[in-house]
Amino acid sequence: MLKKYVMGNWKLQGNLADNKALIEGLRAELPTLDARVGMAVCPVAPYIPQVKELTAGSGISVGAQDVSEFAKGAYTGEMAAGMLKDVGVEFVLVGHSERRTYHGENSAQIARKAQAVIGAGLVPVVCIGESLDERNAGQTKAVLTEQLDALFAVVGTDNGNIVIAYEPRWAIGTGVSATTEQIADVHTFLRDYLTKRSAAVAGLPILYGGSMNGANAASIAALPNVDGGLIGSAALKPAEFAAIYKALVASVA
Ligand code: PGA
Repeated sequence: MLKKYVMGNWKLQGNLADNKALIEGLRAELPTLDARVGMAVCPVAPYIPQVKELTAGSGISVGAQDVSEFAKGAYTGEMAAGMLKDVGVEFVLVGHSERRTYHGENSAQIARKAQAVIGAGLVPVVCIGESLDERNAGQTKAVLTEQLDALFAVVGTDNGNIVIAYEPRWAIGTGVSATTEQIADVHTFLRDYLTKRSAAVAGLPILYGGSMNGANAASIAALPNVDGGLIGSAALKPAEFAAIYKALVASVA
């Protein structure tokens, strides 16, 4: 696994024509990827085979936005990690705040989903983050600790093939990113947390997510312990997503 990633979360957006234009545009912007910075895009599930085809030979990985905690059985509407692997998925977002908010997912269930992903040999991208109320109440670090404690209670601390995405809920889709001070403070806290847990998880990539775009990417990417970005709306614009990727590359150069 690489140490730096830029990942696009397309959410509930796209269709055959738009996906084609997006990936073709991205490939035109970035004819080759830097070997030190990975890129993944997470389309809506029905389009995964299409996006696999469009990204063939590009180095761009394909991710999924969610997964079942179960491997198979009578769970109508669910998708298993093994099935995602079958169609070429490499990364799976788990615990995105929209899943937590709109689908009532809690940290224990998210940890079981992460375990299902690991069990299938894929990499979970575990999203954590505080609400605005929690931040204002001074609970940010307690909330993040609870979310990570729940994760490691299930998946253990000997697996280095996990990505952590810090996404303050109040910065997602709002156009207002966290400040570089806030991001640096939390990412340093998260690195310390991971370092205390075990040598295997000490170096897990920690991505930032929440209104990251072409304009703020360079200052965010330059922060210590920021290992990339999980990008929503800006991931739907090829030039902007490419600019974020280039900012990450510049930060490791
Ligand atoms: P945003 O979304 O970049 O549109 O804020 C980020 C995310 O939800 O992962």
